Formats: sequence, C-alpha cells, structure tokens
Amino acid sequence: MKSTCIVAGNWKMNKSNQDGKSFVSEIQKRILDKGNAKVIFCPPFTSLFTIVDTLKSSDFSVGAQNVHNELKGAYTGEISVNMLNSIGVEYAIIGHSDRRHTFGELDDFINKKIITTSKSNVIPIFCIGETLDQRKSGLTGKILKDQIELGLKNIDNINPEKFILAYEPVWAIGTGETASTLQVEEAHLKIKTNLETLFGSKGLDVPIIYGGSVNEKNAESLINIDGVNGFLIGGASLEIDSFCNIVNIVKNF
Ligand code: 13P
Repeated sequence: MKSTCIVAGNWKMNKSNQDGKSFVSEIQKRILDKGNAKVIFCPPFTSLFTIVDTLKSSDFSVGAQNVHNELKGAYTGEISVNMLNSIGVEYAIIGHSDRRHTFGELDDFINKKIITTSKSNVIPIFCIGETLDQRKSGLTGKILKDQIELGLKNIDNINPEKFILAYEPVWAIGTGETASTLQVEEAHLKIKTNLETLFGSKGLDVPIIYGGSVNEKNAESLINIDGVNGFLIGGASLEIDSFCNIVNIVKNF
C-alpha cells in the first residue's frame, strides 16, 4: 500500500456555484469508502465557500486554484492564504502551468507564494513540469531541478505532511497525451532526488502526484508507478463517473 494517495480535481474555470454544489453532493453519495485516498476538490474561487460548506461533515477536502503571497493590501483581484484559511480551505495550487504559461507567473513569484503558504495552515500543491520543446531538447531534468530550487528557495525545512508536489508535464495537460510509464517514473525519481538534496529524508517523504490527461482508463497503470502518490486531474475531474472511477481505482493502492 502507498503511504499517501491523493486524488485532487482541478476544475479550472468550470462549474457554477450551483453546479459545483450538486456535483460534490452527488460524489459524496457515490463515494462512501475512499480507502487510502485523500480526495481534494479545487473549484473556482466563487464556489469555495459553498463547496467547503457542503462537505463540512465529510472528510473530503477543498483547495483553491491559486493564492497571493501577500496577506492583505492593494492587490485587486487577489486572495490571501488567511482568507482561504478563514473559510476552511485546506489546500492551494501554486505554480500551475496555466498560471506560468498563460498568466506569466515566474519562479520568483511562485516562490513567494510558497513561502507565505508554508507558514500558514493552507497546504501548497506546488506544480512543476517541462514543455514539449524542453523535453525534446533533453532539458526535462534541468527544468524540474530549476523549478524546484527556485520555487523552494529560502525554505529550510519541509513538512511532508503539509506539502504536495505535482508533476504536470505541460505537453500532457488537456491534450489527451499522457506521459508514458517510463517518463513519469523517471521524472518522479528526479524530483525525489532533488527534494532529498534540499531537505534530506523529509524530502523523500513529500508526496508527488502526477497530472496530465489522467482518466479512468490510464489511472490504474499510472498509480502503479513507483513514486506516484496520486493525481492532479483536470478534464476527468469534471465528470462524476470518471472522477468516482479514478478514486475507486486509487483507493486500493
Ligand atoms: P488534464 O487532466 O485536463 O490534462 O489537466 C491536468 C491539469 O492541469 C490539472 O491541474
């Protein structure tokens, strides 16, 4: 059995407040036994309060898709970790490929967010991953190392129970093209080695989840890979059947 198994659904900019509420209510009825799996819903900001409230007497968890590094002030359109914490949000995705590549977020900004979040009660889900060009140029290992070192700069200590790293190769996100077993295994091993170099044995215990076109057909072979502690799922997390099927696969590992 894996020490940690996480199934996180990143809804991105999908589902109204009402749709989100009905969705998690139905999933709550359908998934009565999560086994070893930790299930996290990451809805848009507008639904966070409703989803936390709907799930309050369950052990399903809720995460935000982003967070700002400052705690308050003139940051129009932004949300702080304290705001998330105050409504019961337990996780925040940081450095997602959409944020890096569509909104131009750089490692330095991501690092500030991780530092602030690590000092709070909100657990960061820190996303890294290479583009197709970087992979084709043989740069995957270097990119992952750089993103880890820059994203975790000035963090001296890591608590593996309060940190999740998500490996999401950019070319596999939303494309239907999943990384192969070997590619995932190699990347997770590289990430583990980097975390060990930075944080010693605690680094080795950080859960590393995979994201990029995970679906109910490939979930079993992906979760079987050494060093994969679960998934960060986009498209397949939006459908009740596929999401429940993935949780049912993962819970047995
Ligand atoms: P897909 O599962 O749609 O490829 O999205 C992955 C992702 O970006 C999750 O954060």
